[in-house]
Amino acid sequence: MYSSNQITTVHLEITTKCNASCPMCLRTVLGGKINPHLPLTELKLADIETIFPATFVQQLKRIYLCGNYGDPIVATDTLEVLRYFRRLNPQLRLELFTNGSARNEQWWHDVAQVVTLCHFGIDGLEDTNHIYRRGTKWTILMRNIQAYIAAGGAAHWDYLVFRHNEHQVEPARELSQKLGFRSFQLKKTGRFFSNQKAVVKDQQEVHSAEGELEYFLEMPLDPKYLNPSLAREEALVHEYGSLRAYLEKTRVTCKVAAEKSVYVSGEGLVFPCCWTANQLYPWYREPESGDIWALVKQLPNGLRSLDARQSSLCEIVDGPFFQKLIPAGWERPTFASGKIFACAKTCGQEFDPFRAQFT
Ligand SMILES: C[S@@+](CC[C@H](N)C(=O)[O-])C[C@H]1O[C@@H](n2cnc3c(N)ncnc32)[C@H](O)[C@@H]1O
Ligand code: SF4
Ligand code: SF4
Repeated sequence: MYSSNQITTVHLEITTKCNASCPMCLRTVLGGKINPHLPLTELKLADIETIFPATFVQQLKRIYLCGNYGDPIVATDTLEVLRYFRRLNPQLRLELFTNGSARNEQWWHDVAQVVTLCHFGIDGLEDTNHIYRRGTKWTILMRNIQAYIAAGGAAHWDYLVFRHNEHQVEPARELSQKLGFRSFQLKKTGRFFSNQKAVVKDQQEVHSAEGELEYFLEMPLDPKYLNPSLAREEALVHEYGSLRAYLEKTRVTCKVAAEKSVYVSGEGLVFPCCWTANQLYPWYREPESGDIWALVKQLPNGLRSLDARQSSLCEIVDGPFFQKLIPAGWERPTFASGKIFACAKTCGQEFDPFRAQFT
């Protein structure tokens, strides 16, 4: 894949905890109760110092705090961790991805002194943002953004478009300019997709904490807001027979091998990317099942072989999971013989719902 001394980018999930419950995020079951398989945990400054020694931080160009299951503003030591990275590498690009709706103004003022860019996920305006960003509060979000931007912080707005907020794209863009955001990006989510059935779905259920249906999220009506990859389903089914058949055939070109990037989870586990790591705890499958677990179970100490608090990050990257097991999973001819589903879906040739979000 790559060797550890070539890595230039780290995607860090500092915690699996969050103040929100977005319905397409695997941390909850459809926006309701917390994913029962998920360990709720966070990395403390001492863990970060162990996982990221000075020599490694100094070889990097970019660290971004994002993740699969949590929000970096919720972890206790995020500010101290950012300062640690900054002290070791003053040139480093340091970025945060957040819903923005936690912490006080002082914290946001302090964060502005250390990060290069903060990406706020804001999917609508005051009357709609909470429909996807469940549990967030608009007044807290606006207060935090103003404190961060007033303190000199560079801010970017990511806007996921749904049917319930497609009419607010232009007013939101105007608000972003008024507030002093540097940029505004529409995201056409690729998550109207069933991984279990390998089919596109045009709506998704949203559940309460008690597991009851509350409402549906729907795709936007305006075709210009539809994810162009999901819109290719019919053509691919016509050509290959089914989307699964296409995914089984497609050649895999690993995105993170090209960008020399590595993922560290809230448990300190080292994976190539968030897409393979998020196969550890999907709520809709039996615990410890699926193709990624099948690979993990081949390691001498299972999941612990990937724990960067027990072996060094560099040893893990230069070891069998990265160098043999994952790359072998790109070459297999069928899912039954070990082709990795997440790799075919994320890094195949003709269907790339992740990249298509930004087009
Ligand atoms: C699990 S979140 C972690 C970071 C942070 N909690 C946040 O939401 O920004 C990872 C990324 O997924 C994005 N995300 C959440 N729901 C999404 C969806 N339905 N489609 C595409 N991206 C989504 C978030 O905006 C964020 O950029
Ligand atoms: S804010 Fe981020 S981590 Fe939290 S529920 Fe939403 S997508 Fe998931
Ligand atoms: S999903 Fe697979 S192929 Fe794509 S970046 Fe991750 S490891 Fe590489």
